[in-house]
Amino acid sequence: MAILSSRPGPGSPDFAANSAAYEALRAPLLAARERAIAGGGERARQAHLARGKLLPRERINTLLDAGTPFLEVGQLAADGAYDGQSPGAGIITGVGIVSGRACMIMANDATAKGGTYYPLTIKKQVRAQAIARENGLPCVYLVDSGGAFLPLQGDIFPDEQHFGKIFRNIAEMSALGLKQVAAVLGACTAGGAYIPAMCDETVIVDKAGMIYLGGPQLVQAATGELVDAQELGGADTHTRLSGVADHFANDELHALELVRGILGRCEAPALAPPPRPCRPPRYEAAELPGLIPANPKQAMPMLDVLARLLDGSELVQYRERYGTSLICGTGAIGGYPVGVLANDGVLLGQSAQKAANFIELCCQENIPLVFLHNISGFMVGVQYEQGGIAKDGAKMVNAVSTARVPKFSVIVGGSYGAGAYAMCGRAFGPRFMAMWPNARTSVMGGEQAATVLALVRGEQLARQGKEFSAEEAEAYKAPIRDTYGAESTALNAASRLWVDSVIEPADTRDWLTLGLALAAAGPKEPTRFGVFRM
Ligand code: COA
Repeated sequence: MAILSSRPGPGSPDFAANSAAYEALRAPLLAARERAIAGGGERARQAHLARGKLLPRERINTLLDAGTPFLEVGQLAADGAYDGQSPGAGIITGVGIVSGRACMIMANDATAKGGTYYPLTIKKQVRAQAIARENGLPCVYLVDSGGAFLPLQGDIFPDEQHFGKIFRNIAEMSALGLKQVAAVLGACTAGGAYIPAMCDETVIVDKAGMIYLGGPQLVQAATGELVDAQELGGADTHTRLSGVADHFANDELHALELVRGILGRCEAPALAPPPRPCRPPRYEAAELPGLIPANPKQAMPMLDVLARLLDGSELVQYRERYGTSLICGTGAIGGYPVGVLANDGVLLGQSAQKAANFIELCCQENIPLVFLHNISGFMVGVQYEQGGIAKDGAKMVNAVSTARVPKFSVIVGGSYGAGAYAMCGRAFGPRFMAMWPNARTSVMGGEQAATVLALVRGEQLARQGKEFSAEEAEAYKAPIRDTYGAESTALNAASRLWVDSVIEPADTRDWLTLGLALAAAGPKEPTRFGVFRM
């Protein structure tokens, strides 16, 4: 094993300035995290507690095995959206250990607009289900929701990836043998009623839980019948008369205990232990913020970053002297073998070919891939086009697309253009995808986009015989630059669920280790590559 030696550390000249710049970028994310954890605000929390209910995070903590981690997914979803009415998109999702089984937990937050589903709530739950399916995890639905957020029905009801997808996923995962369990802890109205109704086993809490296709108000409007909510869809009705639920719980704690029992009896894998001993890196992961250049135009020292992420700081580089703008190599994280692809400059034809070959090798040996994005894109220019960079890039995108080993993506710096795709962007199926707080992603940089569009505009005006002065060009460019600046941040990406999480550099090893442990226990799929353009 080649041991990476790393120079920059607290003593190096830029370290303090880099760390300070990182702290400034991190501050808005910490505030967003607090907003998500607070849920629907103090008044709604108090009203919820006054009903004798647990808050959603308390429910999850009660359900989990004591002292085990919870890998939260999409915590910052919907931050800044919907006038702040749906923090975390009104649902908490993540992987946790229940009765020794790793499972996906999805808990509605009834303090946020009655736990109703906004478009990003659906996207978040569908994403959580996709993670469950890919990793072979049972699902637990802690239901307490008013169903569709009715004013936005056009964005949540009719389409392929809308509400119906959640029910279809339940049925399909059940058919795959992945246990689907619901605990009805509050309202479960209209379409939402199909979540517990479609699960393999459903628990309902006396007096608090309600399942009905039409609530008392709707029944009254439709038929004139005046009916009590519990008689219509309470625990007694559904466990004694309708058979819509299976287990009657006296209260929430009893319900969560029943769910723990169901999980304890089901066939599901525990986390797979690592095949090798886990060894810490030889350099402190806490030093990583000091390596992130305060000036984004400066290069991040990627080998020094790897020296703080890999077990024992050990990396066997693949073609170390060839295509050097992409570091490829094998090592381990948390005792799990990984193949790492880390950008160290702009992507060139050689580096893309090297990546495609390296991915083939990792697939042959069943080694999961970790992509560390720090990429401005593929090289442009006559020389490179004539050299066929598009076909070399296509080889890499092809290999990334079809590789069926588990893939993980972390945007540590920039992730722009086709480079983002080649490095296993969201569309290329990473099992989990995260950004560091300093990271940015967009189709190109804001300055480049503004310049391209201003050039196009200038040419249009020239055809009409009109001038496009430098001042006019600048006025044209400024809003484009601003939009790109705002859209490319880690917070915006997390809010819109382009990534699963924003993680601290120092937590990256733990985050990857959990993902690798899940993947090691989950289903395996053989890789079949497509046609590579030579
Ligand atoms: N769409 C849009 N907004 C909804 C909603 C829905 N389906 N259900 C509730 N809300 C809103 C309420 O207007 C209220 O907004 P406000 O805080 O701005 O006043 C907020 O969510 C909380 O509702 P509230 O009724 O005060 O809370 P609650 O805890 O007493 O009851 C429900 C929650 C979900 C049980 C109850 O609101 C309800 O039955 N809603 C209708 C559910 C329904 O019929 N859904 C059909 C989906 S297809």
